[in-house]
Amino acid sequence: MPDKSSLQEKTAKYLCSTYVRYPLAVKSANGFSLYDFDGREYLDLLSGISVCNLGHSHPEVVLAITRQAQKLIHVSNLFYQEEQVALAEKLISTCSLDRVFFCNSGAEANEGAIKLCRRYMQKIKKQNRFEIITLTGSFHGRTLATLSATGQDKIKQGFDPLPQGFKTTPFNDEKALDKVISQDTAAIMVEIIQGEGGVKILSPGFLKKIVHVCRRHDLLLIVDEIQTGMGRTGKYWAHQHYDLCPDIITSAKAMANGLPMGAVISLEKVAQAFDAGSHGTTFGGSPLACAAAIKVLEIMERDQLVQRAWQVGQEALEIFEGVRKKHPEKIVEVRGMGLMLGIELAFAGNKIWKALLEKGYVLNLTQDTVLRLLPPLVISRDHIEGFAMTLEILLRDSELCQG
Ligand SMILES: Cc1ncc(COP(=O)(O)O)c(C=O)c1O
Repeated sequence: MPDKSSLQEKTAKYLCSTYVRYPLAVKSANGFSLYDFDGREYLDLLSGISVCNLGHSHPEVVLAITRQAQKLIHVSNLFYQEEQVALAEKLISTCSLDRVFFCNSGAEANEGAIKLCRRYMQKIKKQNRFEIITLTGSFHGRTLATLSATGQDKIKQGFDPLPQGFKTTPFNDEKALDKVISQDTAAIMVEIIQGEGGVKILSPGFLKKIVHVCRRHDLLLIVDEIQTGMGRTGKYWAHQHYDLCPDIITSAKAMANGLPMGAVISLEKVAQAFDAGSHGTTFGGSPLACAAAIKVLEIMERDQLVQRAWQVGQEALEIFEGVRKKHPEKIVEVRGMGLMLGIELAFAGNKIWKALLEKGYVLNLTQDTVLRLLPPLVISRDHIEGFAMTLEILLRDSELCQG
């Protein structure tokens, strides 16, 4: 029987050391709860980084996966598959786009969007435009192209030469955006809320400017909804909070509540650039992942989880604001939309984050100072209140508030 320390030892010995792991070995999970090897329960306020949005091992999703596994797990994209069609139809009904390309992850979805954009410019528009503008602080993935697109230098080091064709412009800076556009520019790619970047929300004014610039220069607008999509922010897609019609959106994370699944969803005119043989994947859109994703969408609709995310998110913001008012010198800002929430601390938050984990709350610390919460959309106000009360008590300990 493994225990935490033998797992830590063997992880260090056999796995690449790419992750700074939390001091928690998870044995099992159910609903909002994670359980360690000593049987201790933790409240999961992270959902596997916005993946298990319906909670862990949702019984109906488990049943859908089990039934599908008995029927058809994989057959390849050489064949017509009813699960893909049913899922594509459902997904398209949640947005104003027309066609789907299924893949397996967020980076793959963004990689697909980059390829689709370039091919659209070359094959449909017959123009030699290829450059994609992204924002500082953005995160678009870890493949070479998505890394190149990402607006954070720290994760690019040691991977030169990176693919060309990406430029980064400052977050929420309208003037700089004007300056970065050139005759090579093909698209602007943004997250409506930067997740890894510290739960930073694009200002409505900047979004308006982006739309204006895209129209004026005939650019594609690509919205990376990998973290913000699937109801997380209180709309199916975060761009739906604004008057925005993207040409391409990318999705992944929560689509199949834990099975690998991603999608590039685009307007018909753009999708035409992906003709036969131009792009592909072995596993993308497997019947198994599609069956899980169909069930996820059915449950979200039936249980009105998108609306719930908005409502509980608003309550959470109020509750956290209450904590901020008690500790204005320790909390810089509380922000978010729906259940994508950030509490920005005035100091490096590692000690507080660790103390919260010791008290049984699993969440993430991003950009050193931002406590990021991405709880399952089924979380209750009581859970949020319990967390906020614990945070408030911990903030009284000055030892924990020194970075
Ligand atoms: C906004 C955004 N884009 C892309 C990705 C990459 O997704 P994946 O890790 O599935 O490749 C992430 C992952 O955190 C993300 O948050």
